[in-house]
Order: sequence, then structure tokens, then C-alpha cells
Amino acid sequence: MDTILVFDFGSQLAHLIARRVRDLGVFSEIVPYSINREQLDHFHPKGIIFSGGPSSVYENDAPLPSADVWEYIKEHHIPLLGLCYGHHLIAQQYGGIVESREEKEFGKAILNLSRRDFIFSKLNDEETVWMSHGDQVIQLPPGFKTFGSTETCPIAAMGNSDEKIYSFQFHAEVHHTMHGEQMFKNFLFQICQAVPSWKLGDWIDQSIEKIRSTVKNKHVILGLSGGVDSSVVAMLLHRAIRDQVHLIFVNNGLLRKNEVEQVCGWFQDKLKFSNFHMVDAEDLFLDRLVDIIDPEEKRKIIGHTFIEVFEQKARQLESNFPNIEFLSQGTIYPDRVESQKGTGGKTSSKIKSHHNLTLPENMALKIIEPLKDLYKDEVRKVGKALGLPEELIHRHPFPGPGLAVRCIGAITRKKLEILREADAIVIEEITKAGLYHQVWQAFAVYLPVKSVGVMGDFRTFENICAVRIVESIDAMTANFAKIDWNVLENISSRIINEVRGFNRVVYDISNKPPSTIEFE
Ligand code: XMP
Repeated sequence: MDTILVFDFGSQLAHLIARRVRDLGVFSEIVPYSINREQLDHFHPKGIIFSGGPSSVYENDAPLPSADVWEYIKEHHIPLLGLCYGHHLIAQQYGGIVESREEKEFGKAILNLSRRDFIFSKLNDEETVWMSHGDQVIQLPPGFKTFGSTETCPIAAMGNSDEKIYSFQFHAEVHHTMHGEQMFKNFLFQICQAVPSWKLGDWIDQSIEKIRSTVKNKHVILGLSGGVDSSVVAMLLHRAIRDQVHLIFVNNGLLRKNEVEQVCGWFQDKLKFSNFHMVDAEDLFLDRLVDIIDPEEKRKIIGHTFIEVFEQKARQLESNFPNIEFLSQGTIYPDRVESQKGTGGKTSSKIKSHHNLTLPENMALKIIEPLKDLYKDEVRKVGKALGLPEELIHRHPFPGPGLAVRCIGAITRKKLEILREADAIVIEEITKAGLYHQVWQAFAVYLPVKSVGVMGDFRTFENICAVRIVESIDAMTANFAKIDWNVLENISSRIINEVRGFNRVVYDISNKPPSTIEFE
């Protein structure tokens, strides 16, 4: 399969570049700019795209590919496309000059094309593009020609068609660059001559084949959370190796209303997994959480207990099925890229705890991560193609530590019960109002604060329920959802009337940042 590599120089937009390429049917991978020659050779890239980034190429510690990598690129005549920082990098590497400018340029600009061939085939004389930069190429490298300029940027696009190298000052990957897609098409199909063979249907078939040839007659265990990633892995493994997959679903006592029944209903009854194991560890988790009020402490206890319970079940299964040789995980592509960045020390990142189950050395299970190359929406499409129920595919994200981080202060069974009921009402009401799929998350939070109310003739003194409904694209930022007052009113009056324990409901109107989505 033809692969296009995206070298990441610290751009927020590297993902968008990879998506653009995949959406055109060509497989793409993001790699750190510090990749070495051997790793590069492993990919046999059909083309390389250099992302943008916050650095300046002339700084002392600017991120630069190694001399070996440049040599490899030149030896193999790999076509290059540089965007923003990538544009400066190419200019500098091939002998041009890059300079810092006093005034920064940000936003839409009109690109006047001096050529309408090669990378600019099928484009207009003038194109709207999106700029965000401080530095500029002020002198072309030998052998390069200017392909386009804007009012403030004389070398906004340049290229050396003999060497198949092109670069733009603007960001072709963002939608504000009106015909960015055509530029990518030109690069992929005309310059790199890539074959569009990245199709999810084919991916499923190949992935099933790969699982079969890896696993053979051995068995695999998988921790199932009820979320979309691990559920899709379960479906894929089941399709490939049937009863050789063992699902372990842990009830930690911190799940939502009816969640245990739902997950068991889906996997055991509906999807007919014969090796589905629900471990009821509610008491263990809740006993260990008694009197714990510090959020980090809660998370730590839950994480450790989870591993302990999972391990114990895995060992028990191993004694019945000595053939268990693999542990499967629902790691998806952004998880991998995030953790890669984390280890590079450039960007801070949070790795999902369930994706990093560490089992004792002597169990020596080999890891299989069938979704490691997919984006979330691709995972959802695979889930749909494999017959996963729609309601599971499009469920809101739910944190690993569950309701523990939504039950502020010390956790008790009683509080969890109250919270579960209120949470179910929030979900019911926003579903009824047709908003469930329009928001990122919606849930109730138990606040350990009491306030006075009046019910009939009686004075009440009960706790406060906070309702949190947010809109987001990737959970990195989020805005509180400005939903209809009437829907909020229904939620509030139902919670106060139907849930014993709350006599007041407040709506959280904070955005992320500076707040977070979850309360703890
Ligand atoms: P915050 O609260 O950091 O949440 O704004 C961002 C997103 O991550 C989810 N979240 C978690 N998911 N384990 C998870 O698997 C966790 O410990 C965890 N904490 C928060 C949260 O629900 C939101 O979607």
C-alpha cells in the first residue's frame, strides 16, 4: 500500500494533513521529524509532507531532520511538500534564504498564481489561502521557481518540478484554503503517482487476515469498557477468531444506570460472544474508595484496582485456557501519536489508563492493537460495518474512573445511586430534545453541598446537582452548550421531583479552558 509520511514539526495541524491524505484514499502516517533513516526506509514512503510548526528554521534548537534522512530523501528522489515551517525548511535545506519579519500575517490572503501546472494544476489565477506565519522565504533556492505570491509574501509558493519538491507559505490543509484539496490531489496523484488503495472495507478484510495469521490457534484476552474503541476491537477479533477471544468486562460500581445490563445484553445476548466474562468487583472498588476525597487519589486507587482485578481474571482464564497468548487493546491512532509526543518531551499528553494495562512479566502476553492506525471516525465506520449497535457506536465518552470523578467528595453507594438516577434523566431529556448527538457529553454531577428548599409544606435540606453539557470536537477545548431553557427546565424539574436527595439543580456555564469537562 502506498504511504505518505507527514513529518511533524510540532504543528497542531499535522493530524489534519494526515486526514486530508487519507480522505483522498491514500494511507498516511504522522512521524516525528527526528525519525531515523532505518525507520524511514521501513515505510518506503511514496511522498513526504513537512508540517508547519511554531519554530523558526534559523534558531539554534530548530527541529531539523537528520543529515541521513535528507540523504535518503535525495537518494530515493522522494517527492516533498512543505507547508509553512516545512516551506522554510525546504528553502533553507536547498540553499534559499529565510528571514524573520516584523509584522506577522494571519488569516485569509489572495494567492496570485504564476504557474498553473504541476502542484497547481486545475487551479485558478487567484486562490484564497490561509496564512499564519512570521518568517518568510526571501530568496529562492537554486533550481526553484516561484509558483505564487500574495501581497505581502512574494514567495508564497515555490517548486522545483525536476526534483518533485514543492512548498507553500500558507496552510493548504485547512478548509479556509478554498482549493487545498486540489493541491493535495495534485501532490498525491500527479507528483507522487500514489495509488488510492486506502479503503476501510479492504482494511477490515486485511485486518481480519492479519489477526488470523498472528493468533493462529491461540487465544486472546481483551478488556472491554463498553466504549466504542474496545467494542470495535471485540467485534473485529470475534469476526476473525470467534471463540478464541475472551472479553473481560469489570463492573467497578462506578458505571452509569443500567450500564452493566446493557453491555452484558449487547455482547452476551445480542452479539453472542461465548467467552464474555463480567467480573463484579463493585464491593472491592467501593470499599477502597471509602473516605477518599482527593481526586488524584481516587483515580490512582481505581486504576490500580482495575489492573489487579483484570490480572486476577486473566490468570484464572489462563489456567483454564493455557492457549492464551495475546492481550488486545483498543489503542487508536491519536493515542499513539499523543504518547509519542509525550515521550519526545515537546507536548504534554494524557494517555488513557486502560490502554496501558501492564501485566506481570511472567504472563508474557503479546500485545495486539488492531485499531492502532485508525482515527476515531474510522473506528466508528468499522464498528458500523461489523454490525455494532448504533447506540454503542455513538455513545458519549465516559471517563475510565467513571462516576467517581462526578461524585465530588467521599463516595458512598447512596450518593452513587442518587447520581445515577439524575444522570439518566439528563440523558433522557437531551435525547428527547434531539440533542444527544449534537453535544460532546452531557451528565450530572453530585455536589457535596446542601441547600434549603421547600417541597409541599415541608422544608428540605438536600444536596445540589450540577448539570454539565458541553460541545467539543476533540475534548481539548470545550464550550458549555447553550441549549434551550425549556430543556434545562425539564431536566431540573424532573431531577428535583423524581430523585430523592437533590432539591436544587445548577447548570455549569464554564468553558474549557480554563475549566475541564469533568469536575475532578
Ligand atoms: P477533561 O475533564 O480533562 O476531560 O476536560 C477530557 C475528556 O476526557 C475524558 N476523561 C477521561 N477518559 N479516563 C478516560 O478514559 C480518564 O481518566 C478521563 N478523565 C477525563 C472526559 O470525559 C472528557 O471527554
